[in-house]
Amino acid sequence: MKISVVGLGFVGTVTGACFCELGHEVVGVDLDPGKVDLFARGRAPILEPHIDELLEDVWRSGRLRGTTDLIGAIAETELTFVCVGTLRNPDGTQDISAVENVVTKIGEAIAQKGTFHSVVIRSTVLPGTTRGRLMTLLAQTTGSVVGKGFGLANNPEFTREGSAVADFREPSRIVIGEIDPQTADRLVSIYAGIKSPVFRTAAETAETVKYADNSWHALKVVFANEVDAISRFAGVDGQAVMNIFCADTDLNISRAYLKPGFAFGGPCLPKDLSVLTAWCRSNNLDVPVLAHVAESNEGVIVRASSEILGSGLTRIAVLGLAYKAGVCDLRGSPIAVLVQRLREAGRSVRAFDPDVSRGRQLTTRHDYTDDALEGLGDVLVEDIGTLLEWAELVVVTSRASQYSAALSKLDPKHTVIDLTGGAEIA
Ligand SMILES: NC(=O)c1ccc[n+]([C@@H]2O[C@H](COP(=O)([O-])OP(=O)(O)OC[C@H]3O[C@@H](n4cnc5c(N)ncnc54)[C@H](O)[C@@H]3O)[C@@H](O)[C@H]2O)c1
Repeated sequence: MKISVVGLGFVGTVTGACFCELGHEVVGVDLDPGKVDLFARGRAPILEPHIDELLEDVWRSGRLRGTTDLIGAIAETELTFVCVGTLRNPDGTQDISAVENVVTKIGEAIAQKGTFHSVVIRSTVLPGTTRGRLMTLLAQTTGSVVGKGFGLANNPEFTREGSAVADFREPSRIVIGEIDPQTADRLVSIYAGIKSPVFRTAAETAETVKYADNSWHALKVVFANEVDAISRFAGVDGQAVMNIFCADTDLNISRAYLKPGFAFGGPCLPKDLSVLTAWCRSNNLDVPVLAHVAESNEGVIVRASSEILGSGLTRIAVLGLAYKAGVCDLRGSPIAVLVQRLREAGRSVRAFDPDVSRGRQLTTRHDYTDDALEGLGDVLVEDIGTLLEWAELVVVTSRASQYSAALSKLDPKHTVIDLTGGAEIA
């Protein structure tokens, strides 16, 4: 395919060189004639391992060019990657003026060209930007609509400076944020030489994945450093702690606990986190991320409570009451906390949790449930049929098998609020 790449910085240079290596014809465009001159001569305008050899190789193939003429580059190519910088304003908000300027010029160039052209946003932009502001600019400047005069997609860049060429050649995955199918098809075909999973998804999802990735990386660094600070204070080797931590690839470095759903709870996580952060506080050890985890978890309960109260419905059935499905333990259950708040707000709430009910039949002392049930009255019911007949609103906290029968009995008279986010609560 004939591809243009606008912005010959880290992302654009690597993107252009690597697509050329895959056999495509590439025109690199930048405002800076110095960068364009280097790129057009097969020399890298950035310092990055392997980029010099790669650019020289692809330049010899005759498929690589450089220009400052954006209009000409659009006329000669079928698909354009926008790789210009996105900045941060002093108040932290995003400045996408460079992307807006380029997209406006591309739209004008497409109008002059008069044939379908795909625009692919590779710069990092906030969720909704591609289909919102950028699509509007293209529609205004081309005088056409997406899918007709122009195509549009978001294709975030996940490579890291310092290993960008290797990351491009073997990415963990390729994310194609689709708006029109023709542009998404083109993207799938130009990546054909790379054997990595391709996720073809909505543009907004692709934009959000990019921010989720970078937030996660930042969070991991901060977490490791807070654990290190705690370790040092305790006279322990933080490297040893994190080495042993990382050796657990079942629960620690894994998919576990990474499914969106309801709040965490139980007898251990809330207690241990609160004891650890209280100990840090009393020793003037600043661990702001760990110290605010409980606050974030509380936010999940508050949002669920607002949604349920906002429904205006008063007879509420909750499927699940223990802190997770399959256990009979109500200690630290965020669902029990939610039920309590709904009752305090004047709602009539009943809960169905067969594991909690069976657990209470095992012994006469109910150490794992009495405290949480105190004040909740006869909240726990055992007959799901009667409960569903009574309820107006059903709150789903788990999709575990013990609730399958209940879920299959839901009918249109029930309003359903699903706190699982479609996932199991782990
Ligand atoms: N650097 C990274 O490792 C990395 C990784 C993933 C995503 N990103 C994102 O990709 C985008 C680009 O990042 P970068 O580090 O390559 O930026 P950069 O600053 O290195 O390069 C941007 C280039 O765009 C050019 N440019 C600006 N306006 C232009 C215009 N109107 N016409 C033509 N060229 C123009 C600049 O001259 C510059 O060469 C950003 O949104 C960034 O957040 C960067």
